[in-house]
Amino acid sequence: MSQELLTFLDIASEAALAAGAVLREKFCRLENIQSKGRQGDLVTEADKAAEAVILEILARHLSDHQILAEESGTLGGDNSKYLWAIDPLDGTTNYAHGYPVSAVSIGLMIDGVPQLGVVYNPFRDELFRAATGYGATCNRQPIKVSTTQELVDTLLVTGFAYDRRETSDNNYAEFCYLTHLTQGVRRSGSAALDLVSVACGRFDGYWERGLSPWDMTAGIVIVREAGGKITAYDQSPLAIKSGRILATNGLIHESLSQALQTAPRLPEGLYA
Ligand code: IPD
Ligand code: CA
Ligand code: CA
Repeated sequence: MSQELLTFLDIASEAALAAGAVLREKFCRLENIQSKGRQGDLVTEADKAAEAVILEILARHLSDHQILAEESGTLGGDNSKYLWAIDPLDGTTNYAHGYPVSAVSIGLMIDGVPQLGVVYNPFRDELFRAATGYGATCNRQPIKVSTTQELVDTLLVTGFAYDRRETSDNNYAEFCYLTHLTQGVRRSGSAALDLVSVACGRFDGYWERGLSPWDMTAGIVIVREAGGKITAYDQSPLAIKSGRILATNGLIHESLSQALQTAPRLPEGLYA
């Protein structure tokens, strides 16, 4: 591994583990849960404290790099080659309800391309890491995507963005259709954990719309390096800004893409 990437990976891991310790410490001890505006879109003192710990570590080691952090926005130095996408607590709704399914997600884009990712699940003490060209690991053991070939045999996962009450493009139709066609579709509440779960074969595929760069940058690298495939729903190259991602073991990519594009629409106005 290039010395530079290896150094970045270790810094990101240090930051993810430190933030995860904050999340464990504050779990079920929250004093301050606020709404960010949309129903269900919450922020807690744990999101802010975990993000502060990550920013402090990145600033100490890589002060010239740029940063896009969910709670603080854009900050950092003026070296625009490097952009860190940080979600200090992915799965805030779960966390705020005392449901231990959340993660820290730290990804690095180099010249706009995701090249390094670290996702840490503090409740299972699982540290997922990857850098382009060097494979993906969980707690330093190599991981691989599943070998499931038929949609009918798959277990999938998806999510629903906070704007789901404001648009008919809310993933409800796709969720119903894929639930019908597969062994099941889960909704974990953490996009970062969904992606790493595809990477290590717990799920065969994942799709979602309405995501932000900090939700997916790290997970994208981890899935790719575990042998999986990442595209837009229609299999065109992923555009991170679109917020829409299809991640699979590669073998079911075509059939899941087809199903997403042909899912029968629900009656107009059913939930609007
Ligand atoms: C959310 C989670 C969830 C996804 C939402 C995200 P947050 O992130 O990843 O699984 O469905 O779209 O916004 O708000 O918990 O950091
Ligand atoms: Ca998130
Ligand atoms: Ca978050």
